[in-house]
Amino acid sequence: MQFTLSFTTLLLASLLVLNVQALPVRRDAGMITLPLKRIHQARDDIHPQMLLQQHINRGQRRLARMTGRQAPSEEQFQANIHNRMFLMPSGPGSHTPSKRYNRQGSKAPTNQADAGGIAAGIVAGINAAGGGSSNGTTTNTTNTTTTTTATTTATGATPSGAGFSQVDLTALENGGLTPAGNPSASNSLGLDIEANDVGYIATVQMGTPPRDFKLLMDSGSADLWVGAENCTSQGGNCGPHTFLGPASSSSFVDTGKQFQVTYGSGAVAGDIVTDDISIAGLALNTHTFGVATQETVDFSASSVPFDGLMGLAQSTLSQQQTLTPVESLAKAGLITEAITSFKISRLADQKNDGEITFGGLDTTKFDQATLTTFANVNTQGFWEGAVGSIAADGTDLGLTGRTAILDTGTTLIIAPATDAAAVHAAIPGSQSDGQGGFTIPCTTTTVVSLSFGGTVFTIDPRDLAFAPVNNNDLTGTCVSGISSGQIGGATEWLVGDVFLKNAYFSTDVGKNQISLAKLV
Ligand SMILES: *[C@@H]1O[C@H](CO)[C@@H](O)[C@H](O)[C@H]1NC(C)=O
Ligand SMILES: *[C@@H]1O[C@H](CO)[C@@H](O)[C@H](O)[C@H]1NC(C)=O
Ligand SMILES: *[C@@H]1O[C@H](CO)[C@@H](O)[C@H](O)[C@H]1NC(C)=O
Ligand SMILES: *[C@@H]1O[C@H](CO)[C@@H](O)[C@H](O)[C@H]1NC(C)=O
Repeated sequence: MQFTLSFTTLLLASLLVLNVQALPVRRDAGMITLPLKRIHQARDDIHPQMLLQQHINRGQRRLARMTGRQAPSEEQFQANIHNRMFLMPSGPGSHTPSKRYNRQGSKAPTNQADAGGIAAGIVAGINAAGGGSSNGTTTNTTNTTTTTTATTTATGATPSGAGFSQVDLTALENGGLTPAGNPSASNSLGLDIEANDVGYIATVQMGTPPRDFKLLMDSGSADLWVGAENCTSQGGNCGPHTFLGPASSSSFVDTGKQFQVTYGSGAVAGDIVTDDISIAGLALNTHTFGVATQETVDFSASSVPFDGLMGLAQSTLSQQQTLTPVESLAKAGLITEAITSFKISRLADQKNDGEITFGGLDTTKFDQATLTTFANVNTQGFWEGAVGSIAADGTDLGLTGRTAILDTGTTLIIAPATDAAAVHAAIPGSQSDGQGGFTIPCTTTTVVSLSFGGTVFTIDPRDLAFAPVNNNDLTGTCVSGISSGQIGGATEWLVGDVFLKNAYFSTDVGKNQISLAKLV
C-alpha cells in the first residue's frame, strides 16, 4: 500500500508540475498563443520513459474512442506507467518536477464567441493530450483530506547536511496538506503547506451562505477561480472539491462572459461571475472572478488539495480582465494599500507558521533591519526584481544582469541553462542529468544566495535538495531544487518556493515594488 502510494504520488507530482518551458507568455499585442502547441513540445519535466508511456496510454485512449471500444481502465493506465518507471535508469523520481501552475496562457480573448471556442479548444486539446493522468473521479489512490501526520516521526528541524528529512519524505509520499497555525497579524490567513513544500494554500469564504474554499496562493498569476457546480474534467466530474454556483450560493451571478487560463500544467475554462467573498474577515461583496466549468485533471484529481487558485500578480495579467482580490480590497478601502505579504513555511521546520497578509507586512515574521525594497522591473504584471549577485558559499559566480520573477506558485527555481550549470558547478557532488535537471548530494551544505536591493538572501541547503532519488537513501543523491529551462530572456530566472521559504516576501501594487526581508 505504502509502495503504491509512493509511486502514485511521485507520478502525480510529476504530472502536476510543469514544464519548465511553461513560462507565462507575455501579453504581446494581438498575439494569441495556443497552448495546444506547447503540449507537443519536447518537455523536460517528465522522464522520457514516463512520457513515452503517457504517449502510449494516450494512443490507446484515442484508438479506443475511434473504434468505439472500451479503453483500458485507469488502473491499467496507472500500472503501465508504474511499470515504465521501473525501467528508468535511476528509478522513480529521478527527474523531478520543475515548476507548478505558472501561467503560459494566451491573451484574453477579445470577444465572447472566441472565448468559448478558444477555451473549449484548449481544454479539449489538453484533455486529449492528457497522457497517463487520471480521471479525477476515479483516481483514489491518494487521500486529499490527508493531513500529514509526520509530526510523530519528526525530530524537529533537520540540520543542514543531515540529508533529506523524514518529514519531507512522508509528505512527498502522502501529499495532502499540513495546516498552518493561527495567523499572528490581522488581515491574515494561515498558509497550509501542500506535500513537501510544493505549494501554499489558504482558506477563504465564498458565496451565500459562506462556505470554505481552499485556494493555492499564486504570486505568478492574476486570476481567481474555483470549480463550477457543473464542472467537468475529461468526461468526468472535477473530483472531491468544493464548487460554487447558483445551487449553493444565493448571491451567485453569472455575467455570461467566459475566461480561460492555461498554466504551466493544466488549464481551466469557464464563466466570469460575481459573488460575495470574504478574505480574513474582509468582505468583498459582488467580487468578480471565475468559476471553471472545465478543468484539466491537474486540478480535478482527488490528490489536488485545493479548490482553486488566487492569483496575486498584478491585474494587468488577468485573463478575466478584472482586479485581483488585493486590488479590490484596497479599492474598497478595506485595506489601505494593495500589499500582499507572504511568510511561507518549510515543512521540515515543523513550525507551520505560514501566513499571507493583505494590506501590510507582519513585522513579527521578519528582521526589520533587513527589510529591502526594490523596483518591480516587469511590465506585464509579474513580480520581478533585479538580482545583484548570485553566489555559492559566498563566492560570486559572476552572473550579472540577471532578473528573477518571484513566484509562490512555482515550487522550484528555474534558471537559464548556463546559469544553472554555473551554480551546480559550485556545488560539490552535483551532476547534470542531461535534460535540464541536476542532482546534488542530499547532504549538501553549499549555501547558494541571491541578492536583491543590496541584501544577500541565502537558501538553506536543505531546500536545495528537493527530493531523494531513492526514497530509501535520504543521505544519497537528491534532485536539485534548481533546474534549468527557457524562461524568458537568457538572463531571466523563475524563483519559486525553494528560495521564497528563506525570506519574507511582500508585493505592493500601488508602488509597483517588491520587498524581501530575512526571517526571524
Ligand atoms: C476511495 O477511497 C476510500 C477511502 O480510502 C475507499 O473507501 C473507497 O473504496 C475508494 N474508492 C475507490 C473507487 O477505490
Ligand atoms: C483520509 O485520511 C484521513 C487521515 O488518515 C482519514 O481520516 C480519512 O478518513 C481519509 N479519507 C478518505 C476518503 O480516505
Ligand atoms: C454551468 O454553470 C455555469 C455557471 O453557472 C453556467 O453558465 C453554464 O450554463 C452551466 N452549464 C451547463 C451545461 O449547465
Ligand atoms: C471518468 O469518470 C467518469 C465518472 O466517473 C466516468 O464516467 C468516465 O468513464 C471516466 N473516464 C475515464 C477515461 O476513465
